[in-house]
Amino acid sequence: MTLFDPIPWVFYDVGSKRFWVHYGLVILGFLLSVITAIVQWKSPAPYGKHQSQENSWGFMIPQRLSHILSDGLPGIVLFLLVFFLFGSVRGYANYVFLAIFVGHYFHRGLIHPLIMRYRSAYVPLGIALGGMFPNCLYHFINADFISSATYSWNYYYDPRFILGLLLFIIGFVINRWADWKLRSLRSMDSYVEGSQEYLIPYGCLYELVSCPNYLGEFIQWIGWSIATWSLAGVVWCLFTAATFFPRSRHNHLWYKQQFELYPPDRKALIPWLF
Ligand SMILES: NC(=O)c1ccc[n+]([C@@H]2O[C@H](COP(=O)([O-])OP(=O)(O)OC[C@H]3O[C@@H](n4cnc5c(N)ncnc54)[C@H](OP(=O)(O)O)[C@@H]3O)[C@@H](O)[C@H]2O)c1
Repeated sequence: MTLFDPIPWVFYDVGSKRFWVHYGLVILGFLLSVITAIVQWKSPAPYGKHQSQENSWGFMIPQRLSHILSDGLPGIVLFLLVFFLFGSVRGYANYVFLAIFVGHYFHRGLIHPLIMRYRSAYVPLGIALGGMFPNCLYHFINADFISSATYSWNYYYDPRFILGLLLFIIGFVINRWADWKLRSLRSMDSYVEGSQEYLIPYGCLYELVSCPNYLGEFIQWIGWSIATWSLAGVVWCLFTAATFFPRSRHNHLWYKQQFELYPPDRKALIPWLF
């Protein structure tokens, strides 16, 4: 392989059983992201700002547990199992991808659910399952890819690797900062689960968009798909777009209805555009 190869890795033999399993699941992932975009555009998943008294999503479970089940389990446990038990390749690029993916989910699936100050202590079980099942599918495909693709030895100075990692890190910082900002809107002294209000967040990227936390994570997965240069990464990125675009739109409309003085120039997700 030479630098700037259109395909900088070697993966399963074309036509082999594992090839078909992988790309069959990629097609499923693509279809699921289209369905998700349509469903979520119509009505947002009922948690956080959009949780209502009328609940048709099953019995209630603790919200912190729900996030650990939907994100921690697939993003850490499943991903590690697939990488080490199902995969076959152990190059430095594979380990870099493993580290950033699991690093993200170590925060999102374990630390974030334990430290955030939720308004509601409980969410419907359907929220946990509705996150867990798609995550299992996409995380399986991605773990399968990054543990079985052999990247060229000089991939570390390939622009796709460098740009992708850079975007992932920038997105990670934005996502963490934006979630931390939301957390700090509810002060430690007055925080009591179940009796929390919403405030307008201000400062930095919040002056431009209502949901910089989603924007940051979206940038991360764009970076991921560029760095891994894989269809697995692309369908996962599409699925997150299918969640972030509709949900940021619902959040944005919710803010505008809730607060008369909501900054009129702010967009939902993409500065100046959307
Ligand atoms: N990969 C994916 O497909 C995916 C999908 C969804 C989310 N995520 C990630 O998961 C993380 C959390 O997402 P989320 O949908 O739960 O985000 P969110 O609705 O913005 O809420 C995040 C936290 O901030 C609180 N909060 C939100 N707006 C607030 C306000 N105006 N005033 C005071 N507190 C406020 C929320 O409290 P309440 O719970 O009381 O509302 C919650 O504790 C983000 O990092 C996001 O990128 C990833």
